[in-house]
Amino acid sequence: MARTIIQELDETVAFIRTLHSGKPRVGIVLGSGLGHLTSEITIEKEIPYEKIPNFPVSTVEGHQGKLIFGTLNGQEVVVLSGRFHYYEGYSPDQVVFPIRVMKFLGVETLLLSNAAGGMNKDFKVGDLMIINDHISLFTVNPLLGKNHTELGPRFPDMSEPYDRTLIKKAKAIAARLQIPVHEGVYAGVTGPTFETRAEYKLLHIAGGDAVGMSTVQEVIAARHTGMLVFAISVITDLGIREEDNIITHEEVLAAASAAEPKLTGIFRELIAEL
Ligand code: HPA
Repeated sequence: MARTIIQELDETVAFIRTLHSGKPRVGIVLGSGLGHLTSEITIEKEIPYEKIPNFPVSTVEGHQGKLIFGTLNGQEVVVLSGRFHYYEGYSPDQVVFPIRVMKFLGVETLLLSNAAGGMNKDFKVGDLMIINDHISLFTVNPLLGKNHTELGPRFPDMSEPYDRTLIKKAKAIAARLQIPVHEGVYAGVTGPTFETRAEYKLLHIAGGDAVGMSTVQEVIAARHTGMLVFAISVITDLGIREEDNIITHEEVLAAASAAEPKLTGIFRELIAEL
């Protein structure tokens, strides 16, 4: 008989426990071109994804593909350095598997970053947007299919996917560090195409301030299991630009790494307060 997701999670966590016994309460997922936060971590253990049973393996340029355990600003953390995207061909179950592993490892709060296209007219390339809500209807819900009550309820509440207390703390930190931040709605799409002009327009009219190809499935899985979530987008391109609107992956990665120190500053301080 095929194994259940719970059996797979138990096997994966048992394997990780043979290599590392830490119990981080904070999990971090870093987006494309945003992996440098790991250089601030006092690393205790790094496990390449390909060594971990049941883990998918990351393929996108700019992703390192390892699970990192260590301490950041006094807080024990586990970091997914390199995430899994639906557009790579992974099933939604695979995309969120590492998030569920984090839960089984004891993680209570999940911090995520991503690169996103700006649609709000006030946004510029390099700006940060704290995500205060999302639109996931243009992606595949990772909870479709049989529900495992060990993970969470059949019909999870989504009235506050991004924890308001964490948003408040992050805004206070950003003000203290004199880092300007926007707040807004992240529209999740599957990619891998960037949006057409008409699609950017639609997503903006639908209420999106930024658009990206990750995060929403992970957040849904995290909220399903009761984790608190905080997420920031780095605006790497402007979807609403009228002319000369060719967007490349290279441009996205370059803008992400240029803006990264601001993001790292906020994450570093927020982590100490968790
Ligand atoms: N659209 C979708 N995903 C993205 C974008 C975008 O403009 N920029 C970075 N990731």
